[in-house]
Amino acid sequence: MADPHTGHLADTPSTASTTRFAASSMLIPASAGVSFKHTHLDDILADRDPVGFFEVHAENYMGDGGFPHRALERIREDYPISLHGVCMSIGGPEPLSRDHLARFKALVDRYEPGLVSEHLAWSTHDDVFMNDLLPLPYTDETLSHVCAHIDEMQSFIGRRILLENPSTYVVFENSTISETDFIREIVSRTGCGLLLDVSNVFVSATNHGFSPLSYLMDYPLEHVCEIHLAGHAVQEDDEGETLLIDSHDTRVAEAVWNLFEIVVKQAGPVPTLVEWDSDLPAWPVLKSEAAAAERILDDVATTFLMGKRHATAS
Ligand SMILES: [Fe+2]
Repeated sequence: MADPHTGHLADTPSTASTTRFAASSMLIPASAGVSFKHTHLDDILADRDPVGFFEVHAENYMGDGGFPHRALERIREDYPISLHGVCMSIGGPEPLSRDHLARFKALVDRYEPGLVSEHLAWSTHDDVFMNDLLPLPYTDETLSHVCAHIDEMQSFIGRRILLENPSTYVVFENSTISETDFIREIVSRTGCGLLLDVSNVFVSATNHGFSPLSYLMDYPLEHVCEIHLAGHAVQEDDEGETLLIDSHDTRVAEAVWNLFEIVVKQAGPVPTLVEWDSDLPAWPVLKSEAAAAERILDDVATTFLMGKRHATAS
C-alpha cells in the first residue's frame, strides 16, 4: 500500500535484485522529478540541487549495454528512478510478450526503481508494434483482460505496478463502464496503484467535452502514488473543433497546473513527474518546470503538516 501522504510504496524490492544500491535509495520522495534525457546528463551532474527523482522509459534501456546504460547507471548512483513502460500493451486482447516481460524484469532487478508503471492502453497486434498508445473500450470483457495482464506483470516482475490513465482522441460506442469506474475496479481486483496523468485528463476532457474537474472528483485519488504533468499541442480537427495532442514537447499549461493543485490538495503530496520527451529544452527550462511543481507540493505539504498538528492538539 502507498502512504497517502508521502506516496511511498511499502513494496519490498524484488528478491532477485542485486542490492547494489542502498535499500533507502530506491524510495522516491513526494517531490518533483523530470524525464531523464541523455542530453541533460552533464548539466544534471554539474547541478548541486537538480530534482527529487528521474523517470525513464523502460523500452529505451532494453539493449544490453552502451552509453544509455552507462548514463542511467551514473544517474542511479545519486538518485532514485521511476521505471515507466510504454509497450507492454496491457490493454490489448493478446497475451503479454514473455520476451518483453523478461526484458522489463531485468531492468527492475538491475536498477531497483522506486516506482514501476505502465499504461492503460494497447500498442501491439500480432507481430506489429505501434508507436501509439491506443485506447480500449471499457467493458466487462476488456476489464477481465486488463486485470489478468496486470496480475501477470506484477507476478512476473515481483513488484506492484502503477497504472496510468490514457489521453484519448476517440471514444467507443460499446463502452459500458466509465473510465473512472473501470480504473477503480482494476485497483480493487489487482491491488495495483495508480499513476494519475493530470495532463491526460485535461487533453481527454477538452477533446470529448467533459469536465476535467468532475472526472478528477470521481477518480480514486486515494490510490494515486505518482502524478504526471506534461505540455500539450493545440490543433484543429476536420470540423474545426479544438483538438489537444498529448505531445510532451512544451511547458505545462496553466489550466493543468490549476488541476494539479486541486488534486494534491485532495490527495496530499505525491511524487510528481514533469514529462518532456521531444523538442527537449535546455536543462534550466526543464528544471524550472519541476520547481513550479515543487512549490505547489511544498505548499500542500505544509498545509497537511499543520492539519496533523491541529488534529494532535485537539
Ligand atoms: Fe504520462
